[in-house]
Amino acid sequence: MRVNGKHHRTVWWENNTLKLIEQNHLPFRFTVYNCEDYRQSCKAIDTMIVRGAGAIGATAAFAMAQAIIENDDDAFILKAKLAIEATRPTAQNLFYATNRVYQAAIDANNRKEAALLCAQAIADEDVRACQTIGELGNLKIIDGMNILTHCNAGWLAFVDYGSALAPIYSAHHSGKKIHVWVDETRPRGQGARLTAWELANEGIPHTIIPDNAGAYYASLGKIDMIIVGADRIAANGDVANKIGTFEKAIVAKTFGIPFYVAAPSSTIDLNCMSGKEIPIEQRSADEVRYQQGLNKKGLLETVLVCNSNSAAENPAFDITPYSYITDIITEKGMFKPAY
Ligand code: MRU
Repeated sequence: MRVNGKHHRTVWWENNTLKLIEQNHLPFRFTVYNCEDYRQSCKAIDTMIVRGAGAIGATAAFAMAQAIIENDDDAFILKAKLAIEATRPTAQNLFYATNRVYQAAIDANNRKEAALLCAQAIADEDVRACQTIGELGNLKIIDGMNILTHCNAGWLAFVDYGSALAPIYSAHHSGKKIHVWVDETRPRGQGARLTAWELANEGIPHTIIPDNAGAYYASLGKIDMIIVGADRIAANGDVANKIGTFEKAIVAKTFGIPFYVAAPSSTIDLNCMSGKEIPIEQRSADEVRYQQGLNKKGLLETVLVCNSNSAAENPAFDITPYSYITDIITEKGMFKPAY
């Protein structure tokens, strides 16, 4: 993806350092965060400097490589693996990546070299998979469509291209005129901040709407398709994605709007029989109580936006049952969720 005319990946390895686009600063500032060791990489996942299924997966892969380069003893590697896996529990790509790099290193004579090669392969595969998802998903997009997406499953959520936004980019580049409704304005505002920033960079017409406006626009006939990403897909086709996704799916079913989930096959967890087995991350209630933004002087500020002594809860994901999903778009093809 290009930012100010320069091509960027979200996660990349350079001069023995893991480099990440600092997503907590967007859309206000574009900065790069350096992770010198696996502990810093864990912190970056934990504090959401990097977030999104594929971007977390690639970061976890390089974090494993960093740990193995630091010390390739069995006990050290296992301890680091557990620390990386403890950062965020829902995103399947994280576990896919740690297991794959771990296995590649354990099976190799030169563990350090094998770990880094494997991490790089995971990042490159993520790019190729998302590119293919874009081409396949574009087949479902008709010129003139209004498309709603929830949260950010764009290139920032992956190494490049994105999942839910990849078909939108592909449609735009193939000359189709589309308009995107953008939500997830709360609690973290990943739609309003990240998706809107990505679409603006690409010159794609879009409008930010409050999270609870989807049913209203659907009732007016102003949504032709909903497309979202996924953090984990269970074997029966149930999908974990950003909190609020299930509500969009209910709206889609009510109004007969196709509801697509776009995700690389690395997001599918065949060990989870249904969505009931997917762990849902509970994040700090402060993300509900406070909001961050630019003040009039252009400085980042965090302010309280609710009654200070009320209880608050912050589940980060919900489960959309497979029966609400039209198709799951992967790099291997489009599937009915039950298949
Ligand atoms: O708030 P986040 O960034 O942790 O939300 C998670 C996600 O990135 C979304 O659920 C996204 O739609 C799927 S990941 C491509």
